[in-house]
Amino acid sequence: MNGHAANGSAVEQVNGHAAEVAAVEQAFRPAPFNVAAVRRDFPILQQQIYGKPLVYLDNAATAQKPTSVIDAISNYYLADNANIHRGVHLLSERATAAYEGAREAVRRFLNAAESREIVFVRGTTEAVNLVAHSYARPALKPDDEIVVSVMEHHSNFVPWKMACEATGARLRVVPITDAGELRMDEYERLLCDRTRLVALGHVSNALGTVNPVADIVRLAHARGIPVLLDGAQAVPHMAVDVGALDCDFYAFSGHKLFGPTGIGVLYGKAALMDHMPPWQGGGDMISSVTLEEVRYNTLPAKFEAGTPDIAGAIGLAAAIEYLNGLDRVAAAAHEAALTRYLEERLSGFPDVTLVGRAPGKAGIVSFVMSSAHPHDIGTVLDHEGVAIRTGHHCCQPLMHRLGVPATARVSFAFYNTREEVDRFVDALARVREMFG
Ligand code: ALA
Repeated sequence: MNGHAANGSAVEQVNGHAAEVAAVEQAFRPAPFNVAAVRRDFPILQQQIYGKPLVYLDNAATAQKPTSVIDAISNYYLADNANIHRGVHLLSERATAAYEGAREAVRRFLNAAESREIVFVRGTTEAVNLVAHSYARPALKPDDEIVVSVMEHHSNFVPWKMACEATGARLRVVPITDAGELRMDEYERLLCDRTRLVALGHVSNALGTVNPVADIVRLAHARGIPVLLDGAQAVPHMAVDVGALDCDFYAFSGHKLFGPTGIGVLYGKAALMDHMPPWQGGGDMISSVTLEEVRYNTLPAKFEAGTPDIAGAIGLAAAIEYLNGLDRVAAAAHEAALTRYLEERLSGFPDVTLVGRAPGKAGIVSFVMSSAHPHDIGTVLDHEGVAIRTGHHCCQPLMHRLGVPATARVSFAFYNTREEVDRFVDALARVREMFG
């Protein structure tokens, strides 16, 4: 017996202990995510659409930008604008420092080993095309294989299809379950000594499925096969550590990460990228040029021909800084709660069928409605001030697999609220009134 117990009855002791436990729990419980505070950072959200407050639920298409990102871009043009890596003057030095500082911010964000492993590109699409041109095409021979999945976005499907058509290689496609999960048994079965690369999405843009990327990489590496992950829909929702994942390439877009359009990132292991030829020629990617011979620059300049999107890189670094200032675990929990709440509310609509029900999926809810075509849903919702995306979501093979021509898709960001879910559901009820 401790001294504490000797001083009180058994009931007091239990109550006292419960109170202590509650106090400790309270002290360690993360503060609830302050959505009202973050919304103030996004001026665009404060507007009215057709006289109603905007409800922006199309974040997977592009996310909104906080004031700090807009200011970083504007301040760069107001004070520092100059070309990089070229001038001896102070403005050029400042612009170069900001651009290379952005590269280092991305390196830390992804936990890459070296900043030369970070290549700035236009977006995920360009990143995948770069790897298809500079890594895959020179290596592919007839009957070699590239493994993708049926849920890929066209940006992680078409470049591989083109590379296969140009070289005689074959595309092997991992199927999915009806719930929208990768068939890992089939994935494993498809890996063989002809497989030259695995290219898979981390999070599905159309379904929200979070693929088991660590297992995907482990299984491929056990057979010596490199892996490219399309992280466009993952980085806005979760911390990604390319060092821990050990993937060979990782691609994402700035504009889905609350940064500007026109900038994105290809992470690639230096051991691979050092041996890849450049895919575009021009300024900055060379070390010397004579009439007879061109020598290429080292990483990452080798892959950044021409004047890059300097302001875009600076804006992206500001977006990363903004995210670093958030409690990302609480933000993810907030998005998960919104997703659960929306799915619960949609269960009250017998004419709505959810498309994609993978456990633990990211904040994306795709659905079809028997009474209305997705485009009609989108149009009615727009007039209620609610922005969603409708269509095939650049995933036609997936739509074909699911037997639907299109879906309506709600995609959340951490700045969305329960009240916005209610507004969406009210607007959907209006769709039913009109078409049901
Ligand atoms: N890939 C973006 C989307 O899913 C455009 O909407």
